[in-house]
Amino acid sequence: MKIIQVTDVHLGRRGELRYGADLHERLDRCIDHINARHGDAALCVFTGDLTESGDAQSYADLKSALGRLSVPYRLLPGNHDRRANLIAAFPENPADGNGFVQSVFDTPEGRLVFLDSLAEGRVTGELSDDRLVWLDTQLGEAAGKAVYLFLHHPPVELGLSLLDPLGLEQPHRLLDLLTHHGNVRCIFFGHVHRDIAGTVAGIPFSAQRGLHARFMLDLIGDEMVEQAPPAYSIILIDGARVVIHSCDFLEEWPLWSPATGERAR
Ligand SMILES: [Fe+2]
Repeated sequence: MKIIQVTDVHLGRRGELRYGADLHERLDRCIDHINARHGDAALCVFTGDLTESGDAQSYADLKSALGRLSVPYRLLPGNHDRRANLIAAFPENPADGNGFVQSVFDTPEGRLVFLDSLAEGRVTGELSDDRLVWLDTQLGEAAGKAVYLFLHHPPVELGLSLLDPLGLEQPHRLLDLLTHHGNVRCIFFGHVHRDIAGTVAGIPFSAQRGLHARFMLDLIGDEMVEQAPPAYSIILIDGARVVIHSCDFLEEWPLWSPATGERAR
């Protein structure tokens, strides 16, 4: 099974350049690339910061762009999003019955769970009691099956001094629940605009840098962004195997033939 993760689209005003990049064009190129190479994916998951400011026009633009995506998709909010505007533009994107944009997607390889970690008005994320109760139910229903968790905010400190205080609040509440159920095989998130992998509470995790500018590797306190190539993730899940590829879809490198040693392009 193939799943695509796209994160931190940060769609803003049409024609605007942010850090020198046109995010509308970038999203279009990303969709073109997925359509051309991964039309066989079961789902494309957008892990939050769909828009820059959460305004209705940006969601309308997002909906228009995603109309060209040949793969079914599921949307999650990030701290830049506004839940009411997201739901208004995408009423078909499932919610949990309590007004949160969280849902599940059952597959032959297990259950994908999409968690809404948006705390409106704050950069940090939260999982309120009602959201955790919902998650508890979804994990319980999937007892004995593999579960893959998607959310915007990291539930783990990453060694990034400026970003770590901006992650998920009280991550132990989530991690305790995951440990209790013991069926989550991997956690996928965005928010930090970097490619990072590791484990937390014994569970592998993967962060995708996404479509917006990358935060510098901030181990020394520099507060800068760098216009690194945008990327999306290709997640392959097959039995006991989880493989995550990062695809720099705008990069074009010189091509050389191993057979002749000559440059081919
Ligand atoms: Fe972001």
